[in-house]
Amino acid sequence: MSMEEEVEGIVVIKELDLNNGTPSVKEIGGVIRGCIKIVTCGKKLLCNNKGVENPTSEDFDPKLVPVCRKVAYILGLRISLSHTRRGIGLKLVNKIEEWFRKNGAEYSYIATEVDNKASINLFTKKFNYTKFYTPSTLV
Ligand SMILES: CC(C)(COP(=O)(O)OP(=O)(O)OC[C@H]1O[C@@H](n2cnc3c(N)ncnc32)[C@H](O)[C@@H]1OP(=O)(O)O)[C@@H](O)C(=O)NCCC(=O)NCCS
Repeated sequence: MSMEEEVEGIVVIKELDLNNGTPSVKEIGGVIRGCIKIVTCGKKLLCNNKGVENPTSEDFDPKLVPVCRKVAYILGLRISLSHTRRGIGLKLVNKIEEWFRKNGAEYSYIATEVDNKASINLFTKKFNYTKFYTPSTLV
């Protein structure tokens, strides 16, 4: 699998202070960052008949072309401690997934620590992500 191109989206949730009538940012409640990369996975045979109307086998020009897929990944999801368990993580993931879909991503993944229960619950229970790989790091 090789990466060809990457785009990036960021969503921030801010808590506004409206006390004096002019909204000002009181606190950043949470932030999420996501990227979409185009990866190539394998090749497929493409047959071009060179625009000939009733082509015979000699008019075809078969070529191996890479199969491209858009894959999204979530990184940098953080909710400020004073704002956790208020559904903000849920909202931010929904927003970034909406952006992924709008930009044609077909898959999405996230890497998190094995003991990060909050994150694992959020993604597996609320968004149906499945665990597929648990690498161990040697130090
Ligand atoms: C993980 C994190 C993003 C969750 O954000 P949040 O805004 O508190 O989550 P929500 O309030 O939207 O909760 C949604 C669901 O996530 C799960 N969840 C959230 N916090 C949890 C916790 N402390 N323990 C267990 N499950 C938890 C629950 O399933 C919860 O649904 P429920 O409230 O119906 O039980 C937040 O705790 C955080 O920023 N943690 C530190 C950074 C981090 O781990 N980032 C993710 C990996 S990169």
